[in-house]
Amino acid sequence: MAIIYDAQKETFHLTDGTHFSFILKTALELDGIKTLINTYWGPALGDADLSHLNEDNKSAASFDGFANHNSYAYPARGRGDFRPVALTATGADGARCAVLAYQGHAILPGKPGIPGLPAVYVENEAEADTLSIRMLDGLTGLEVTLRYTVMNDLHALTSSVIFENQGNHPILLENPASACATLRGAYDMLHLHGGWAKERAVERVPSLHGIREISSSRGASGHHHNPFMALLSPDATEQHGDCYAMNFVYSGSFRLQAEENEFGYTRFVGGMNECFWKLMPAEALHTPEMVMVYSDKGLNGMSQIYHQLYRTRLCRGIWRDTPRPILVNNWEGTYFNFTPEKLLAIAEKAANIGIELFVLDDGWFGKRNQDNCSLGDWVVNESKLPGGLAPLVNKMNALGLKFGLWFEPEMISPDSDLYRAHPDWCLHVPGRYRNEQRHQLILDMSRTDVQDYVISAVSNVLNSANIEYVKWDMNRNYSEVGSALLSPDHQGEVHHRYMLGLYRVLETITARFPHILFESCSGGGGRFDPGMLHYMPQTWTSDDSDAVERLFIQYGTSMAYPVSSMGAHVSAVPNHQVGRVTTLEMRGHVAMSGNFGYELDLSSLGDEELAMMKDQVAFVKEIRALTQQGRFTRLVSPFEGRFAAWQFSSEDQSEILVCLFRRYAAANSPMQFVKIPDIDEKRWYVDQDGREYHGSVLKHVGVRPVFEGPGAKRMEDAASVIFHLKAK
Ligand code: DGJ
Repeated sequence: MAIIYDAQKETFHLTDGTHFSFILKTALELDGIKTLINTYWGPALGDADLSHLNEDNKSAASFDGFANHNSYAYPARGRGDFRPVALTATGADGARCAVLAYQGHAILPGKPGIPGLPAVYVENEAEADTLSIRMLDGLTGLEVTLRYTVMNDLHALTSSVIFENQGNHPILLENPASACATLRGAYDMLHLHGGWAKERAVERVPSLHGIREISSSRGASGHHHNPFMALLSPDATEQHGDCYAMNFVYSGSFRLQAEENEFGYTRFVGGMNECFWKLMPAEALHTPEMVMVYSDKGLNGMSQIYHQLYRTRLCRGIWRDTPRPILVNNWEGTYFNFTPEKLLAIAEKAANIGIELFVLDDGWFGKRNQDNCSLGDWVVNESKLPGGLAPLVNKMNALGLKFGLWFEPEMISPDSDLYRAHPDWCLHVPGRYRNEQRHQLILDMSRTDVQDYVISAVSNVLNSANIEYVKWDMNRNYSEVGSALLSPDHQGEVHHRYMLGLYRVLETITARFPHILFESCSGGGGRFDPGMLHYMPQTWTSDDSDAVERLFIQYGTSMAYPVSSMGAHVSAVPNHQVGRVTTLEMRGHVAMSGNFGYELDLSSLGDEELAMMKDQVAFVKEIRALTQQGRFTRLVSPFEGRFAAWQFSSEDQSEILVCLFRRYAAANSPMQFVKIPDIDEKRWYVDQDGREYHGSVLKHVGVRPVFEGPGAKRMEDAASVIFHLKAK
């Protein structure tokens, strides 16, 4: 049993039995209210009784009352708790005050879904156990159900909340959190920050007696902060130490906060941002889900739990477990400037070297020859593609290639037939200027009529030809957030209603076309989050395709997201984003550490380069089961020096791929050794050149990249080498 209730002590012990325990208990407050506190989160315990610590209901001995010290499981504003709260609720009296009293609980096998929202799932009830705890604010009639699920063999805890208004008046909920926990002690914070073309850089900051917060109010999880935060013991490294992480299964505005108080307790709380929801009598609101992971095996231990959970119980559909096709995308090859002849010339070369999928990117619809028009007009531009998509797709199929297509369905160009017909279909605030970004506005996805339009427009195109892949792009964030159909007192709900609308559209389209592989995108990785992965098992990681820059981006992304979720392409040199020239070998090694593809004009390349690519494609086919489904371990961080390294291991450690990279060369440099931790130290391994190594040697001494140190064989600046090891 993963959830143990002790009726006498009123404790709830949530544990997978091996990796973590999370303990809740009731506690009487000074005014007689029975509240719920979180007494523990950390390594698995044999018992949930922590009463010897005398931590409950700390007395009002200090200037603050008891509330500011309590480890509330779901702290509400208006009780004398001055840290970041999980809930701010306002009832008919206008006071931002709620007092949540424990009412009862239920423990059930399995894991219920969350209506209209993405979530981790189970395939049978034995995989998980769920605890629901009901709390009530008696004055307003706000019922709050905290729902926790232990994913037994996947070692994760999920948390979400249900609000029901059982009173007679509306209740305003401000940014209701999805999870809250209290840790003893001070922790470093690690998060992923960035911007366009430099997403998910790893940043670690020490503990602070103040609020550390990352957030988005962009209407998307965003390039700038990812909905992921980890609190680390100060001694934690990639391989050792305590990591407590939250990752939000949501693609819209979010907030994650941590604050250490004067007694050395750290509150960790997170959920939606920019959500001001007026809950009407008899209505319910479900929050999105937070995935909480504890690991005592450092950052790699934490990441590996996320990777396996997301690969197997967040992503869905036939592509979840199917090797992803090797693609060529025409964007950096042609941008908007293409003809069928040019596309077919690229496709022919692609087919010759073993590529499996051709993706036609932006520019095939409306009258779009640059980025200033036609979004919303999802009809083929026949002056560019005579006869529509089918003739082109048929020719691609005849070459042996699948065909994929780009869309940006959530957007509308002011210069479009759709906008001329429905100027009120975009997010806007009457009387205010409609700010454009990339010459576009955002469709109001909170409206059912807009959702239905998007579903039918995209479906019509997908039905018009044999389309087997879709790249679903989204290239701007919110400015004037308003919906024409909502009354003024519900306008604060637009951020979340947009997401509910988007998820309805994604659920409908992906269910209608189950054979299609969907890849999400948002100006590269501006919406790389677990919410999108529930509908689309892969995401275009970044618009920066330079092999050196990608070391940082893919390393950072792997903190929470599996390699099978990262699109990674070999592009032309000099690179279009940074002008750097790297070898085809290095570009290949970086891209094959994700879902591999090419994004360049293959028809302009010489035979020698194409022959190298043919070998590259063949090699990727050989190793992709390992890279996409195997265990990924980070070895050397590019954020800490000139090198980066990582490894992939099959479950039984019979096949290992080690990838070593140098960002730039240095003269007379010291020897570099990279130890391979995820290997069987009792077996012999043989590499791709037939050289043999003992596992213990690889584990405790390591390998040495040939490009560095005395006797170095390679002179190029950025360089890479791989070891493909098979157990004998
Ligand atoms: C942004 C994407 O990230 C690119 O890959 C490309 O699809 C462009 N949009 C097309 O407009």
